[in-house]
Amino acid sequence: MKKVLAGIAIAAMLCLVGSITRAQDAANGEKTYKAKCAACHGPNAEGKPALKAPAIKGKNADEIQKQISTSPKHATLKSLTADQVKELAAYLGTLK
Ligand code: HEC
Repeated sequence: MKKVLAGIAIAAMLCLVGSITRAQDAANGEKTYKAKCAACHGPNAEGKPALKAPAIKGKNADEIQKQISTSPKHATLKSLTADQVKELAAYLGTLK
């Protein structure tokens, strides 16, 4: 019985650590987004038609990585690291 309880406690702790990490990723991603993306994609990633920048809410890391490495609009963003892209995706995933 004790073993089962210890197992449950460990599983609960792992879940907690996992969600804290995700929240931290999203917070870092928000900073990067505001600094590097908001000017074109809008403060809430809703897009800016005047700049022909589409809404990018909920875009995943693969889509972001592909865009910033291929689109000429994103030429200044090639220096973003894989971690920053992951964080951006975590942040965009929190937007509805
Ligand atoms: C200079 C303005 C500008 C900045 C800054 C910018 N974008 Fe974009 N983005 C665009 C435009 C314009 C498009 C439309 C597609 C194209 O022309 O490549 C686009 C398209 C995209 C798309 C594809 C959307 C779709 O539905 O196809 C993604 C994803 C994206 N941007 C992510 C980002 C991220 C993440 C950042 C910040 C790290 C960023 N962009 C910064 C202008 C910008």
